[in-house]
Amino acid sequence: MTDRLAAPRGTRDLLPDEGPAWSRLERIAAGLSERYAFERIDTPLFEPVELFARGLGESSDAVEKEMFRVSGARGSDEERAEWALRPEPTAGIVRAYLEHGLQVRPGPLRLWMIGPMFRYDRPQAGRYRQFSQWDVEVIGDPGPMVDAEVIELAGRFYAEVGLRNVVAHLNSIGDAACRPGYRAALVGYFGARLEHLTDDSRRRLAVNPLRVLDDKLLEPELAAGAPRAVDHLCDRCRAHFRAVCELLDRQGIAYAIDHRLVRGLDYYTRTTFEFFVAGREGQQQALGGGGRYDGLVELLGGSPTPAIGVGIGLDRTLLALADQGDTSLTTRSALLALLGREGTSLGARLAAASWLRDAGLAVRADGSERRLGRQIDSAARIGARWAVILPDDSAGEVGERTVVVLRDLVAGEQQELRLADVPAAVSGTAQQPPRAVPGV
Ligand code: HAM
Repeated sequence: MTDRLAAPRGTRDLLPDEGPAWSRLERIAAGLSERYAFERIDTPLFEPVELFARGLGESSDAVEKEMFRVSGARGSDEERAEWALRPEPTAGIVRAYLEHGLQVRPGPLRLWMIGPMFRYDRPQAGRYRQFSQWDVEVIGDPGPMVDAEVIELAGRFYAEVGLRNVVAHLNSIGDAACRPGYRAALVGYFGARLEHLTDDSRRRLAVNPLRVLDDKLLEPELAAGAPRAVDHLCDRCRAHFRAVCELLDRQGIAYAIDHRLVRGLDYYTRTTFEFFVAGREGQQQALGGGGRYDGLVELLGGSPTPAIGVGIGLDRTLLALADQGDTSLTTRSALLALLGREGTSLGARLAAASWLRDAGLAVRADGSERRLGRQIDSAARIGARWAVILPDDSAGEVGERTVVVLRDLVAGEQQELRLADVPAAVSGTAQQPPRAVPGV
């Protein structure tokens, strides 16, 4: 027997039942992007490894452990090319910004994107090898107003999708002026307590001491006593951070200062933040995160340019909604089934469906020769809320003025009216959940 084919570990098929909820998240993300005046950008799913190694940092988990490498077609010159599936969007967006000279456009540039990212990690709940992000980036704005605006935007997304109890964690990890002092303080502190560190943390201490704070196995007392980034900020970083906090306060946006929030990618400077459902603040539970990356554009070959952005995990947002029992997950627009009698031509069915779709309704037309009763049964089974039954049109054309039967498949009642009056009669009704089919 051959093995059954299955999706690769750590990936998920989006199945039809989840489609409406997923589309709704995408619609809300796209709508907010527009309302906050972001412009759309799309970059390739794979890029040279070099871009991520330079952009995210050789010692970041995304590069060191989780890079999904891609090679060219076997035997081709490009076979050995070093590409990787994108683990995140920011580096690719900055690459495109530089490659296409977007810096000459009147700035700051506000860009958004939505799509799949890839990280080769051990799959577990909420951690996939392919996952989707909605991402926004502002390039060329030193803040602090835009820092608060991006945090507000993410918070508004969670509110609009209906997620409750979302909290923002906030920190500032300084810049090139003050980070070295903070790193030295961490090396001094953890260096004197090496026996308490995991092997991974000892290694991190040598290459990127901030990441020790990210070690989930770090003893809580040790973490609590560690030097705090906010105590090592230079005057300019401190003023920036204070201004961000004040703006958030003024907007009534709640946040918690989190001294361990250093983020896993190396490009961050100053403001960093992550979002969680309160009480679910574990490693694989961040719903989104981001921060300022004032050095990345220069690192990738441009002139010094401040920037900030946020990536929202759509899979985790959906999981959190499901966890809260959100009803929007099963809500869809009312489906109308278009049915014919014996003698209703296929042309009439198609024309009537087209007319109703023009009026904005979701229509599924039955093109079968089955008896009307069977058509009604199957319309109910697929979860249609309404059925429109067309007359026999052998005597003439079906048009807007044709009298049809509109059947309410939930109430089991029906009425006669003109096709043109159907949209008004069904407006404002919600879809019934797909009915369980007995015996299937
Ligand atoms: P990140 O924190 O690595 O940031 O990812 C953002 C969000 O993507 C996470 O908070 C999480 O919701 C989701 N996510 C990450 N990895 C996985 C995974 N393996 N499975 C499921 N969801 C996941 C970034 O990627 C930055 N580029 C954000 C940013 C934009 N910073 C500045 N601009």
